[in-house]
Amino acid sequence: MERLQKVIAHAGITSRRKAEGLITEGRVRVNGQVIKELGVQVSSKDVVEVDGIPIEQEQHVYYLFYKPRGVISAVTDDKKRKVVLDYFAEVPERVYPVGRLDYDTSGLLLLTNDGELSQTLMHPKHEVDKVYVAKVKGIADKKQLLPLTKGIRIEGRKTAPARFEILSTDQTAQSSIVQLTIHEGRNHQVKNMLKAVGLPVQKLKRENYGPLDLKGLRPGEYRELSKKEVSQLKNSAK
Ligand code: URA
Repeated sequence: MERLQKVIAHAGITSRRKAEGLITEGRVRVNGQVIKELGVQVSSKDVVEVDGIPIEQEQHVYYLFYKPRGVISAVTDDKKRKVVLDYFAEVPERVYPVGRLDYDTSGLLLLTNDGELSQTLMHPKHEVDKVYVAKVKGIADKKQLLPLTKGIRIEGRKTAPARFEILSTDQTAQSSIVQLTIHEGRNHQVKNMLKAVGLPVQKLKRENYGPLDLKGLRPGEYRELSKKEVSQLKNSAK
C-alpha cells in the first residue's frame, strides 16, 4: 500500500506536491470514487484515475545486486564516481537501493521501487539479519569479540546484540576473517563495532540479507528476485 499522492507522482504525471493539488481539487478517483483527502492508501490493484484517465501504476520489482568495491550506493554522485544505478541502465523501473553499503564494501545490495518494503527492511525493529564477512587486522579471539554479543556503545548509542564467528586467523599476515551478523544499519556499523574491540576492518563484504545470498552472482551482476524470494523477504521482517 502506498499513499495516493505518491502513486500519482510515481506514475510520472506530476510532482508529489502537484499530485496533492489534483487530489484536493477533486480530480482524482480511486475505483470510481472521488477522493479529496490526502494520505489515502492505495494498492497496485486499485484503479486510480486523474481527470478520468487511468494512470499506469508501476509494478513492484526487486533486484539482488552484487555490489563491487569502489561503487557508491546512491542514485547519482556529484563527484561523478560510479554509482549502483549505473548497473541498472537497462531496467525501465525507477529502482533505488535499500540502505547502503560503503564505497569500499562489496556484497549484497537490494534495489526496488517498493517504498514500503524498503522502509520495513531498513527499520531495525524488524530485525532482518545481515551477515558480513570482514578481514580484520590482528588475531581475533572469542573473548575480544564477546562484548559485541551484548551490545557496545558507539557514538553514544548501544548496538543491538550481534552474533560472530571467527572463520580463520593468519599468524603470518597478522589478520583474521570474522563473520558478524547484525540487524541494524547504522553508518559504518560493522567497521565501527570491530574497531571498538580492537580489530580494524581491512576489507568488508555483505554475504546475506535475511534469507538471500549472493550465490550464482559475480561482482557487478544482478538478478531479479522470484515471487517466492520476495515473500520470504517480507516474512523475514518480524
Ligand atoms: N557496516 C559497515 O561498516 N560498512 C558497510 O558498508 C556496511 C555495514
